[in-house]
Amino acid sequence: MGDIDSSFIQATEHRPKLSTFVQVDEIPIIDLSESSQQNLISKIGKACEEWGFFQVINHGVPSDVSTKVEIEAKKFFEQSIEEKKKVKRDAVNAMGYHDAEHTKNIRDWKEVFDFLVENSPQIPSSHEPDDLELRTLTNQWPQYPPHFRETMQEYAREVEKLAYKLLELILLSLGIGGEKFHDCFKNQLSLVRLNHYPPCPSPDLALGVGRHKDSSALTVLAQDDIGGLQVRRKSVGDWIPVKPTPGAFIINVGDIVQVWSNDKYESVEHRVVVNTKKERFSIPFFFYPGHHVTVKPAEELVNEKNPARYKPYNVGKFYANRNRSDFNKREVENIQI
Ligand code: SIN
Ligand code: FE2
Repeated sequence: MGDIDSSFIQATEHRPKLSTFVQVDEIPIIDLSESSQQNLISKIGKACEEWGFFQVINHGVPSDVSTKVEIEAKKFFEQSIEEKKKVKRDAVNAMGYHDAEHTKNIRDWKEVFDFLVENSPQIPSSHEPDDLELRTLTNQWPQYPPHFRETMQEYAREVEKLAYKLLELILLSLGIGGEKFHDCFKNQLSLVRLNHYPPCPSPDLALGVGRHKDSSALTVLAQDDIGGLQVRRKSVGDWIPVKPTPGAFIINVGDIVQVWSNDKYESVEHRVVVNTKKERFSIPFFFYPGHHVTVKPAEELVNEKNPARYKPYNVGKFYANRNRSDFNKREVENIQI
């Protein structure tokens, strides 16, 4: 069936409807230079509650830093598969290049390069494996392009600053701001992924990334001008495309914020459609607390009328078990009571 390997083919109900979509609604765009902090907090709270997704502009990440990273990512992926596989992710190395991502056991039409944020004041530059993680959490860097590592880390540090700012605003919008949440990120294990989606001969059968939720606290995503990301709109149940906005980042609530908020904010399903003509690049930054952190609904939001909907769970154990049971499995299972 089609011109692609059967490992890529989605079940009929999950295939994208490419021709008939009329866009009625869009995820909100929030200007972070807004002078009233109170307005900003209420806009972000509303977007988190209604969509779980929003875009930000005037976010403080310098455009030349973003442009450099896009150029370098492109140069890296343009190399031969043999070159790229010199830094491949495998059963030993958790970071690096990978061309066979699967989501819910169906192969994604893409290739990726993963790395951890280094040299941040919050975290050591490498993470030795511990009893929670079987693979080495140390970055692998390609020889080419020559300044790849510096460019990637500069970008990661800028986006990390933005992630902290957004986390603060999200927590304030929930009324649960405070030190203890910042402490969670002291040994944070945030991850940056470079995604390359090549043109696909059968975009009606395959997906760039199958439907999934992010297990991070929140995700800060840069995408190019091609488009392809779709978000499941809660109230409609339909897939809404996220229109590329030049220079904007797309922010989404991850599972950890969902648990902290005791379901006030939801980690929303999303997926990526591909096309026959144009390659697409995107760069998610997954903001993760340290492995030592235990995630549970915030005390301020739990009471007799609104009991905790989740048992406490340890981020490291959760992460390790996910990786152990199926190396490629990205499906997230919240631990519901
Ligand atoms: C993802 O959610 O994993 C990727 C999003 C994108 O490429 O737009
Ligand atoms: Fe995602």
